[in-house]
Amino acid sequence: MNLILLGPPGAGKGTQARMLQEHFGLMQIATGDMLREHIKHHTDLGQLAQNYMNQGQLVPDLVVIQMIEHRISEADANNGFILDGFPRTVPQAESLDKMLARRKLKLDHVIEMRVDEDALVERIAGRFSCAACGEGYHDKFKKPAREGVCDKCGFGQFVRRDDDRADTVRKRLAAYREQTAPILPYYQAKGKLTSIDGMAEIDVVQTQIRQLLRPQA
Ligand code: AP5
Repeated sequence: MNLILLGPPGAGKGTQARMLQEHFGLMQIATGDMLREHIKHHTDLGQLAQNYMNQGQLVPDLVVIQMIEHRISEADANNGFILDGFPRTVPQAESLDKMLARRKLKLDHVIEMRVDEDALVERIAGRFSCAACGEGYHDKFKKPAREGVCDKCGFGQFVRRDDDRADTVRKRLAAYREQTAPILPYYQAKGKLTSIDGMAEIDVVQTQIRQLLRPQA
C-alpha cells in the first residue's frame, strides 16, 4: 500500500505517519526529515536547502524529486510507503506519477488532513522531538509519560526546529496555500483524494485513517 499524507504545516502528518509505520509496517518517507538530515551532516544539498527552509520557502522541485526518486528505490520501501511532505507542488505530483509508473507501482490513497490555521500555530509552537530517535511530542497535546524522558527510546534530550518560529510558520502556511493546495484538485480528479478531520485528537485521527485503509467488502 502506498499513501500520501497531505496537509499544512502542523496538521499532524508526521505524527500519523509514524503511527501508521508502526501499525502497518509501511515506510514513512518524510522529505522535511530527509532535508534536516542533510543539514545536520553539512552536505551540499543541506546547505542549499537550509536557506529555503529557514525562510519558510519550498526547496526547488528538482532537488526533492531526485531525493524521492532515490529513496523509493531502496529495498525498505518495497512493502509500501507513506509520503509525508511530498509532493508539495503540481510538478512534484506529476513527477511522482511518472516515477511510480516506471516502477509499476500504484498510489492507493491521498489523505488530506484538514486543520484550522489557529490550531496549526499552537501545534507548531508547542512541538518538540527526541534528540536521539526523533519521536515527536507537544507541550500540551502529547507530553512524554515521564517528564524529560523519551517514551520510545528513553533518551533525555529534546530539540525544537529552527523553522518553527512564528514569522517562519506564517510563511510556511502561505507556501502551503499558494503552492501545495493546488495539488488537491489534481488528486481529486484522479479519484484518489479523501479529506479527514485533522482537528480531532491524535488517536481519533489515526482511527479515521485506519478505517479508510481497511479493505472494502
Ligand atoms: P516538513 O518537515 O515537511 O514540515 P511541514 O510540512 O511544515 O510539516 P510539519 O512537520 O511542520 O508538521 P506535521 O504535519 O508533520 O505535524 P506534526 O505531526 O509534527 O517541511 C519543512 C520544510 O522542508 C518546508 O518548509 C520546506 O522548506 C522543506 N520541504 C519539505 N518537503 C518539501 C518538498 N516536497 N518540496 C519542497 N520543499 C520541501 O504535528 C505538529 C505538532 O502537533 C506536534 O507537536 C504533534 O504532537 C501535535 N499534534 C499532531 N496531531 C495533533 C492532533 N490531532 N491534536 C493535537 N496536537 C497534535
